[in-house]
Amino acid sequence: MKNDLDNIKNEFLKALEDVSDSLGLEDLRVEYLGRKGKLSQLMKQLPSMAEDVRREVGQLGNDVKKTLELAFTEVSSAMNASEDVARQQTDWIDVTQPGVRPPGGHLHLVTQAIDEVSTIFKRLGFVSTRHPEVDWDYYAFESLNMPKTHPARDEWETFFIGDGGTVQEGKKGKVVLTPHTSNGQVREMEKKQLPIRMININKTYRRQSDASHTPMFHQFEGLMIDKGVTITHLKGVFDYFVKEFFGPEREVRLRPFHFRFTEPSMELDITCGVCLGSGENEGMKCKICKEGWVELGGAGMVHPNVLRAGGLDPDVYSGFAFGWGVERTMVMKSDINIDDIRVLYRNDLRFLEQF
Ligand code: PHE
Repeated sequence: MKNDLDNIKNEFLKALEDVSDSLGLEDLRVEYLGRKGKLSQLMKQLPSMAEDVRREVGQLGNDVKKTLELAFTEVSSAMNASEDVARQQTDWIDVTQPGVRPPGGHLHLVTQAIDEVSTIFKRLGFVSTRHPEVDWDYYAFESLNMPKTHPARDEWETFFIGDGGTVQEGKKGKVVLTPHTSNGQVREMEKKQLPIRMININKTYRRQSDASHTPMFHQFEGLMIDKGVTITHLKGVFDYFVKEFFGPEREVRLRPFHFRFTEPSMELDITCGVCLGSGENEGMKCKICKEGWVELGGAGMVHPNVLRAGGLDPDVYSGFAFGWGVERTMVMKSDINIDDIRVLYRNDLRFLEQF
């Protein structure tokens, strides 16, 4: 037994000298010092020995075990240290290297335009508000000087909210998907906070779909009401917006028109971004505008009946309003060329990623 212990010790120490890596070292530890290793197997014979021999051999066994463990620890830590050095040379990262940028999204083209428009009007003191996009007929039409059966309503191809053919109706008339943001006019006046400088940007809906129309689109409605507001204020605000949004080279024009809720009413035109107002491009009639001007949207001085509907005295207060389509305004910017406006809402990333 003593010989066996000696043999195990010598074999182990010899093998330890030959071992070349930490995997081999671990194998060796299991083979000799493990729970089922050579040393434990040998020590299993102890209980069958005579009392005095058992004590002596047991003591010797423990000594051998300690010697082996010590030798193992020494070799193992030396080996770990040298393997660490080797690993540091092959396996390292340059923490100063730029990282891999994760793919980042961006706001939708129309949201970007809405931000830009609101920012420009904000500089003139206009406050962004949001009025309902599902509203009573009263705010969409009636309070805007368009009585129930007035034919002018036909110009707004309106969706009504209903259930199985029955249009929902309440205390302020039928319920509509707002066909324009002008429903915000009387609603804003009802807040009774004057003067008013509102910019109401919202979704609007009309029964139309072609290359230049989508059934859902956005409008921004400007409303300014105070004592002594005149058409020159409207012209000034329009001019400022156009130069900021489209560029200083663009000119503006007010063209007489008719709306029930403004008097006088007008359409606002700007010089075409392609021919810059000349109506000609490369010796031919400009294909975009044909005459030098393109239409931006409607405007006018708020009709006295509308002021009254909002609880204001037209002899004291006056104001102007305008309403333009966001998509239309955006597409008219000369650096954005979209020939079918419906692509804006097809969610095709190949299109959206370009902006
Ligand atoms: N609401 C009108 C439209 O949708 C535009 C407009 C707004 C005209 C305000 C005059 C004043 O066409």
